[in-house]
Amino acid sequence: MTKLSNALSLATITLDHASNTALYQQIYERLAEAILAGKLEAGLRLPSTRELAITLGVSRNTVVTAFDQLLAEGYLVAEVGSGTYVTYTLPEELLTARPLTNPQPQTFSAKRGLSKRGMLLALTPASISRKANRDFIFAHGIPALDEFPFDLWAKLETRRYRQAGRLFQYGEAGGYRPLREAIASYLKASRAVNCEPEQVIICSGSQQALDLVARLLLDTGDTVWLEDPGYLGARGAFQSAGAKVIPMPVDEEGLMIPPHYRGDVRLVYVTPSHQFPIGVTMSLARRLTLLGRVNAWIVEDDYDSEYRYTGRPIPALQGLDTEGKVIYLGTFSKVLFPALRVGYLVVPPAVVDAFTNAQALIHRGVSPILQATLTDFIHDGHLARHIRRMRVLYEERQAVFMDAAQRELGGFLELGVMDTGMHTVGWLPPDMNDTAMARRATTYDIETLPLSDYALQHLARGGLVLGYAAAKPEHIRQGMKRLANALL
Ligand SMILES: Cc1ncc(COP(=O)(O)O)c(C=O)c1O
Repeated sequence: MTKLSNALSLATITLDHASNTALYQQIYERLAEAILAGKLEAGLRLPSTRELAITLGVSRNTVVTAFDQLLAEGYLVAEVGSGTYVTYTLPEELLTARPLTNPQPQTFSAKRGLSKRGMLLALTPASISRKANRDFIFAHGIPALDEFPFDLWAKLETRRYRQAGRLFQYGEAGGYRPLREAIASYLKASRAVNCEPEQVIICSGSQQALDLVARLLLDTGDTVWLEDPGYLGARGAFQSAGAKVIPMPVDEEGLMIPPHYRGDVRLVYVTPSHQFPIGVTMSLARRLTLLGRVNAWIVEDDYDSEYRYTGRPIPALQGLDTEGKVIYLGTFSKVLFPALRVGYLVVPPAVVDAFTNAQALIHRGVSPILQATLTDFIHDGHLARHIRRMRVLYEERQAVFMDAAQRELGGFLELGVMDTGMHTVGWLPPDMNDTAMARRATTYDIETLPLSDYALQHLARGGLVLGYAAAKPEHIRQGMKRLANALL
């Protein structure tokens, strides 16, 4: 940098005379920043305080105070009779990040605090653990990762990387077209979902899809009906959007609408194929009642219906909807693996453009390479094969789980419905506190969430949510022994 441009840097210092920050402080900060950024070079002779005061339109004293501070902190050095220079040796500690000495409180009223929406996001509990992943034997919602064909996946992904081309650009709004087509035909054939590829919006897991739903369909104060106990991810997405969440009871036929409830609701969230976490399947009669009685958006979360062990799968609620009010939600977290972070929405035709635009605006979409790899995995028949294999495997693991539970905890823990999915509820004897029991289990390294964590209203009976898909049979047996030691 030349002497001339250094001088120009000084001339371009701008001061805010209306600011609450004192002028000497502003001069000090601007000069310190310029020195640290190298805009004012080491060894540069600064103009006299009088000249700089005239250039900046401030009193000489103001510049003198700023210079004194810069001299005291070692940014400048003064040579008697010669002038003031930018130091050759910057104070060491300024070249590294400084610790926070004046952190702001986490309130929305404080200056530089969180917004009201930010406070909601900060205080609504996130349903995934903040702890590093550990191998929890009965963690729910985790598939058999030891059985996933990761080598095959890596080959498919590498092939896509080698092809290069358009996949390395930003993807298409709404998602990679061939993947949307593959999902649409899969859902039509296997779940009787009514959909065209453009209705499929690819998201970063169903959690991001729920956020999109909340942003597009809910205003602050809107009422949302949620199954109770119910999915924390959905509760979190809606509460943090400012919605008023009303807990709705669940019985053996799924979500119940008490007779006195009026349809004064904006959105209903349900898990009809496999109620989360209780595990019941919503009866056809209840599905028809819900569609008939409620004039609101209905979000159908079909997160693990691929794994049905007994009985015929009931077609999706979305396929019964004739008014275009059901939003169908799916995920690859259970059929493939959660770290993939790919899920999808099937939205009614009237809101396709709104969802497509919003997804592109706030998220820009899931990695096209990943989406293309997933498409290949589906087209080459690997998805169907993997689901078939896992259905057999999970049924076997479920049998081991039931047998071990009977052996170790028979008469104490009553297992809930297990005809679908990858988890069940272990119902505790009446009046037993499930939170205390879950805490006891943790001390034996068994991570399980108490049912009451999922409930807004008091539960008549407590339970533990237990996954059985992820662990090998010998680990399930050992885990059940440890659980029995903890509970009995
Ligand atoms: C009810 C329900 N929906 C969706 C998911 C999956 O969420 P994601 O697709 O964000 O991984 C889960 C995972 O446990 C779940 O329990």
